[in-house]
Amino acid sequence: MPELKNNVLTPELYAYVLAHNPPLDAVQSALVEFTHDTLPDVAVKQIPKEQAALLPFLVRLTGARQLLEVGTFTGLSALSMARALPPGEGRLITLDISEEWTAHARRAWAEAGVADRIELRIAPALDSLRALPAEPHLDLAFLDANKDGYIAYWEEIVPRLRVGGLLVVDNVLFNGTVVDPSVTAGPGADVRAFNAHAAKDSRMESVMLTVADGVTLARRVG
Ligand SMILES: C[S@@+](CC[C@H](N)C(=O)[O-])C[C@H]1O[C@@H](n2cnc3c(N)ncnc32)[C@H](O)[C@@H]1O
Repeated sequence: MPELKNNVLTPELYAYVLAHNPPLDAVQSALVEFTHDTLPDVAVKQIPKEQAALLPFLVRLTGARQLLEVGTFTGLSALSMARALPPGEGRLITLDISEEWTAHARRAWAEAGVADRIELRIAPALDSLRALPAEPHLDLAFLDANKDGYIAYWEEIVPRLRVGGLLVVDNVLFNGTVVDPSVTAGPGADVRAFNAHAAKDSRMESVMLTVADGVTLARRVG
């Protein structure tokens, strides 16, 4: 058995991590609070605070200008990434099927002054992805939607990424169910199949991280 270096993430350790990350700004904090107060049953869909710090870091690190997101919800990840674009440069296309949840996103983006950098497309993500230009043009994509679509979304996104472009995939551990043999159907099984698919794709160099519910960073290499 390989040595495990992971710490158990206690509430105290999690608070410590957040205290040493860039803090959420006022609009991000208000959106987190609003989502948990107004949509308590589905608020778990929202990216956690450490990812609201990681995503803009990745946008700035890569110098990405053409961004894509699959899975908008109430808009925290889109807001976090769009804020990292230099003013007047770059844009984010974000895909969702819910008019209701994304209405909250639109309000937050307007309040944050980034609405002009974000284009929201409401339709099944596979249709929206297939309508994008076929040639490589994306610098960074974030995949965070229905897990039974992950493989198909990956297959649409990878050819549209520039070589060197980054694909960030959320929930790749799916609450640990990816290693539970009793889970043979549903999102845990879908994510397990996706992880196997991604790991053997020679067009991409992929690294799975134990951030939050698991994040894979995949870079187009060919
Ligand atoms: C986990 S949430 C996204 C969370 C978001 N990234 C955030 O930071 O708050 C997943 C989203 O995927 C959307 N979704 C589910 N099935 C979809 C589909 N077939 N096409 C497009 N979006 C879909 C849901 O409406 C939901 O808003």
